[in-house]
Amino acid sequence: MDINTNEQIRRGAEIIRGGGVVAFPTETVYGLGASAFDEKALARVFEVKRRPFFDPLILHIGEKGQLDDLVVDIPALTHKLIDKFWPGPLTVVLPKKSLVPDIATSGLPGVAIRIPSNDIARRLINTANVPIAAPSANLFGYVSPTAAEHVLSQLGGSVDMVIDGGECTVGIESTIISFMGDAPMMLRPGGTALEDIEDVIGKVIIPANNDLTNQSPGRSEQHYATSTPLVLIDDIWDVDDANAGLLALAPNSVNKLPPNITKTEYLSTNGDLREAACNLFAAMRRLDGAGVNIIFALPIPNTGLGLAINDRLLRASKKRAR
Ligand code: TXA
Ligand code: MG
Repeated sequence: MDINTNEQIRRGAEIIRGGGVVAFPTETVYGLGASAFDEKALARVFEVKRRPFFDPLILHIGEKGQLDDLVVDIPALTHKLIDKFWPGPLTVVLPKKSLVPDIATSGLPGVAIRIPSNDIARRLINTANVPIAAPSANLFGYVSPTAAEHVLSQLGGSVDMVIDGGECTVGIESTIISFMGDAPMMLRPGGTALEDIEDVIGKVIIPANNDLTNQSPGRSEQHYATSTPLVLIDDIWDVDDANAGLLALAPNSVNKLPPNITKTEYLSTNGDLREAACNLFAAMRRLDGAGVNIIFALPIPNTGLGLAINDRLLRASKKRAR
């Protein structure tokens, strides 16, 4: 880590402690961070992102010990899960203590918390010495940022600082598991595979999407959307729209391209789902900037990180039904 990064972390921590808003890298996506205990700063996060206040924020902590300060009770099953996957792309929702401001949880009784594995993120939190509440650093509803340039182009003018930590290594948001009910429930598929989670804590409830609105208000159907309409298709030969972009898993998933496809993004060279998750949002942005009339996306296998990739593509496609 060079001197410049150290200096950026030091300055970023100072801004956060002073009530400012700092965009910073995590292993999943870039976050738009403010002190979790500063209600004014949190209000500004919502404002900068143009995010509705009913959509709560994830608190980022640097060490497991800090969890006790924020939540009432940590069930044994939660301990098992975080011992295995923290630091990393896993968020848990637990009953909050009253010192966690209601604006952070949108008035919900639970608070969402994770320890990022990105070194800059953890050092920023530890230097600021306060939990950092952070949503993804994009305008509400748009594709999440996986590089500092993505943040700068959308929010550069409205944040106090953007810490550049290069490209995110996981590239898709954390998996969210709620412990607010009798059994663990997955509120969002993400960078930790459901299969790996169930290996550690057993069966996890997966609610039908309609059941989610109360527990995880941010899970709106339209999300992660490109400005160009994105449509899920099964076969590229079924559609003949002129000047179309294509998003597909790997070159070997497509034999021959029809002439109406003018720009193609493959998420992986060989179909690796981790590599695909890592490239997803940047590929969506490139297609969005390519001047195509419509973006077609082919289905991804629904296992491992494929579950999270398909979730994001489905929500991106809900923007404008074809
Ligand atoms: O990987 C990630 O989780 C990234 C990085 C920056 O850490 N953050 C992220 O935040 O994706 P955001 O704000 O884009 O998505 C957070 C979602 C909310 O939309 C909501 O669905 C859920 O987490 N959430 C947050 N707090 C919650 C709570 N108290 N109860 C239930 N769901 C909550
Ligand atoms: Mg987001």
